[in-house]
Amino acid sequence: MAALFANSLALQPSANETGLSSSLFLYQPAMYALSSLLLVGACAVQAVLGRHDAVRARREAEIVKRSVDSFIQTETPIAWNALLCNIGTSGCAASGAASGAVVASPSKSNPDYWFTWSRDSALVFRGIVDAFTESYDPKLQTQIQNYIASQAKLQGVSNPSGSFSNGAGLGEPKFNVDLTQFTGAWGRPQRDGPPLRAIALIGYARWLINNGYSSTASSVVWPVIKNDLAYTAQYWNQTGFDLWEEVQGSSFFTIASSHRALVEGAALASQLGTTCAACTTVAPQVLCFLQRFWSSSGYVVSNINGGGGRSGKDVNSIITSIHNFDTTVGCDVNTFQPCSDKALANHKAVTDSFRSVYGVNSGLAQGVAVAVGRYSEDVYYNGNPWYLATLAAAEQLYDALIVWKQQGSVTITSTSLAFFKDLVPSAAVGTYSSTTSTYTSVINAVQTYADGYMNVVANRAQSNGSMAEQFDRSNGQPVSARDLTWSYSAFLTAAARRAGVVPPSWSASSGNTVPGSCSGLSVAGSYTSATLTSFPASQTPISGTPTQTGTTPTPTVCASEVIVTFNELATTTWGQNIKLVGNIAALGNWNTASAIELSASGYTSSNPLWTASVVLPAGQTIQYKFIKVQPDGSVVWESDPNRSYTVPSNCQTTASTSSSWK
Ligand code: NOJ
Ligand code: NOJ
Repeated sequence: MAALFANSLALQPSANETGLSSSLFLYQPAMYALSSLLLVGACAVQAVLGRHDAVRARREAEIVKRSVDSFIQTETPIAWNALLCNIGTSGCAASGAASGAVVASPSKSNPDYWFTWSRDSALVFRGIVDAFTESYDPKLQTQIQNYIASQAKLQGVSNPSGSFSNGAGLGEPKFNVDLTQFTGAWGRPQRDGPPLRAIALIGYARWLINNGYSSTASSVVWPVIKNDLAYTAQYWNQTGFDLWEEVQGSSFFTIASSHRALVEGAALASQLGTTCAACTTVAPQVLCFLQRFWSSSGYVVSNINGGGGRSGKDVNSIITSIHNFDTTVGCDVNTFQPCSDKALANHKAVTDSFRSVYGVNSGLAQGVAVAVGRYSEDVYYNGNPWYLATLAAAEQLYDALIVWKQQGSVTITSTSLAFFKDLVPSAAVGTYSSTTSTYTSVINAVQTYADGYMNVVANRAQSNGSMAEQFDRSNGQPVSARDLTWSYSAFLTAAARRAGVVPPSWSASSGNTVPGSCSGLSVAGSYTSATLTSFPASQTPISGTPTQTGTTPTPTVCASEVIVTFNELATTTWGQNIKLVGNIAALGNWNTASAIELSASGYTSSNPLWTASVVLPAGQTIQYKFIKVQPDGSVVWESDPNRSYTVPSNCQTTASTSSSWK
């Protein structure tokens, strides 16, 4: 909004500035302006020059800080208003959209964003739920309830990604704004939608529990969440399109979101007195896989198993870090916390990758905030910086500051050293407590650096506060979809973190242990449409003020479901597949088209093993058979009689049964 300070970021604070009190600058800027003028006269003396630079740097930092303070103050109500305008039915820019449907942007051509994307909607609603949890607002509550009802309906809409019965349709990335299927060509499926939606809904379920409305959480919200968790546990290990809808493969953001949803889903299930056996069993494997995206060159390769021809440096990873922020695990590296050494090294690698590619960044040295795009090779609309990407770069740093202040120390490792040296050239490996001058230098420099990213956005937003999707790489003017809902949401979450607002914990502390060896274990689930979609009236906070949502796990109840692994030895030829079909819904009700696929990942000629894991009701006796599906789709059944199996009911959560083709 204020182009005035566009060039004020070209200075970086130098290391010897730390003796200066920043509060003095807050209250007495005129005095420092004067002293810096006086110092100009003494420039000949080198020692004084250093101090002069320090004073100037502090003043520049203060100018940026004030610019950002004022931008945030002006932009916050504008962003809330514009964001809510894009939600049906009552949104001022969403006329025609279904109740609770988030339109990506009101732009109906060049580009046509008049659709509802599962990802954008879930991220926007996670932000709304967090804001609502922080401060009760009945209008936001109505929006949240409408969203949940809309998603319960949307889950059942068959679409080009598949149908609801085996969950495949949940991977569809976007729908028409009236919640009908979009049948055009698209990069599908995108597997981040279900976990992100689960995460948003879990946030509201926790608020309900903490305010005495557990039965609403169980009867209305959980049935929707349960389907998304089942999808995540079943499909996480299959490739899909990334969040930018371009690369088919495995995406860091999708995998991390899947992990969080499963961990949080298991914790919520326990709070609701139920279980999610698949969540508990699969989550550690997802975390294990997440570690594979780290490159020994010191950054995350955001797309693997696909996405060749790019460096892999992608704001995907920074967005991942801010959306998995959980202050209860400090700077945990396995969950890629914003202040972890890997996430900081990655912040540098990703943001540096945009320095030389955009004209708007020209001349800005490392350690000075820049305009950030999706990835440097991007050509969409000619490849530009994005508001939400630049805001994510700010948000990660605000998150890190929250944790460092909370723990009263900053740790610099050899992995993160280069990040810190850009900001404080004298930085060295070590842990610095809040009483040290290094700590103070780092905190001040990171704060200024973070504000720099926010200031880039302040300078590139339109003068009325509007934010599109992108701004031009050369002239900084808005490009592509106007009033992108996600841009406003990204602004609001970054501003909240800058103000020190901590998002609710997602139980990362119970889910951040990486197993010794990874497996691609996926568990076939069953999908039941959520039919109860109306919320009881007057669900106001307990005694006027909502309690902060936490995770107080209740004792785990005996599992009502068991993950049963079926191992079948069956010699096959290339192109043949083994499937499992039986007499209950989870096994396709004897319909071979709905049979469960077995995996041949452990198959050898001496041990022709086919295997599948399925969630089954504890205590139930099932009838089933294996079938051999020929390359042309025809089916060969095992011989009679049917096989029979009784799922254990002694509280165990996993079981297995082995057999040979007959
Ligand atoms: C539309 C997608 O939304 C965008 O992310 C992508 O870059 C373009 N299609 C080009 O594939
Ligand atoms: C294109 C972006 O790449 C994608 O992430 C987003 O979901 C859609 N636009 C809609 O905003």
